[in-house]
Amino acid sequence: MTGDDMVALSKKHTLSEWAAQGAVDPIPVARAEGVYFWTPEGKRFIDFNSQLMCVNIGHGNARVIEAIQRQAEAVCYVTPSGMTTEARARLGAKLATITPGDIDVFFFTNGGAEANENAIKIARAYTGRQKILARYRSYHGGTAAAIAATGEPRRWTQPPMPGFVHVLDPYHGIQRGWDTADEALRHVEEVIQLEGPQTIAAFILESVTGTNGVLVPPDGYMQGVRALCDKYGILMIADEVMSGFGRTGKWFAIEHWGVVPDLITMAKGLTSAYVQLGAVGMRQAIADTFKDKPFPGGLTYSSHPVACAAALATLAVMEQDGLVDRAQRMGLLMRDLHENLAARHPSVGAVRSIGLFGVIELVRNKKTMEPMAPFNGTSPEMGALAKFFRQEGLFTFVRWNYFFTNPPLTISEAELQEGFAIIDRALAIADRSVE
Ligand SMILES: Cc1ncc(COP(=O)(O)O)c(C=O)c1O
Repeated sequence: MTGDDMVALSKKHTLSEWAAQGAVDPIPVARAEGVYFWTPEGKRFIDFNSQLMCVNIGHGNARVIEAIQRQAEAVCYVTPSGMTTEARARLGAKLATITPGDIDVFFFTNGGAEANENAIKIARAYTGRQKILARYRSYHGGTAAAIAATGEPRRWTQPPMPGFVHVLDPYHGIQRGWDTADEALRHVEEVIQLEGPQTIAAFILESVTGTNGVLVPPDGYMQGVRALCDKYGILMIADEVMSGFGRTGKWFAIEHWGVVPDLITMAKGLTSAYVQLGAVGMRQAIADTFKDKPFPGGLTYSSHPVACAAALATLAVMEQDGLVDRAQRMGLLMRDLHENLAARHPSVGAVRSIGLFGVIELVRNKKTMEPMAPFNGTSPEMGALAKFFRQEGLFTFVRWNYFFTNPPLTISEAELQEGFAIIDRALAIADRSVE
């Protein structure tokens, strides 16, 4: 099929997510390898977002593809409630060794939203409380409870759901900037007291906020959230769907602050998106709740053998190739590249990164810090920047006044430089609008 045919037929018969369909203009993809992918006509793109921040080990890894093939030949599917497989058994045991503290038991899902749905159910069953605390600058998935927990504008499109309470983040946007950890924690504690601590089952939060701007919390914030949760008997749910599996230079981002959450949710990097899989991990004491009482959830594709085999192979690749340490090392280089852009381009208002998880925020004026596009909006400049990236063969997400630098963890120094050279040229477009 030609690229044009792929796009036309896809647009005629399929819907794209979170978008007015008239504005959707997908890139047709025929092949991918390492940090690159190609259209059917052979145009090459450097993947600077690991697709949807998920192809952490890069494209086309033969060890994972072979593991998927081997599992498919042995057995593709068994019912998750009455049967089990070696892949499921080994994956649960393996995750217990890499997740923080005594998180030792896992329920497997098809993706991140379902992981969060189940984390919320588990928290409610364990505590006997109903309310869920979450933050405004967050995304937790597109299904019922996950989108109700989400704070950002995609929640506005859904009917409001009782039982979800949002708190402010330590970050208030490029113009107001950051609270200290103490200020942010005082706000959280006040909301807990005003809501009634005995009514709150859990506080769900991304360890490093992803889509809403790679927000790395100030030191002390995560430890403070842990302490508040302990003080009031609230479970802490770390959403590591985007920040997990090496992205930040640790297996899980929460490790940067030495905190053990009660529940941890994951997807994306778990299989590097070769096959869809998510999971919610829980501390042993929480899992023990379901020894005598039924577990309140189920999915036809829970613990799917092909997905579990893909995850095991992905984790083996990450260990064999030292990708977690590599993300930390290459992250230092990426930080230098960010700082270099910030020093030379008047449109760069802020750069943030941790490991290979990065974002660049653009402004019209470095004194007033007026963003290059408004909250939840776009502007001609941000549109022109996105168009330039596409023309020049760099794929990344451009959102509001910022864009991401989240390449596969396998990226080489030369490939990182190649992507940043395109970004450097693109920023000249934004610079022209700076007052
Ligand atoms: C932090 C976070 N949680 C949950 C989700 C939802 O995951 P999924 O799209 O696999 O349902 C996402 C997706 O981007 C995410 O970034």
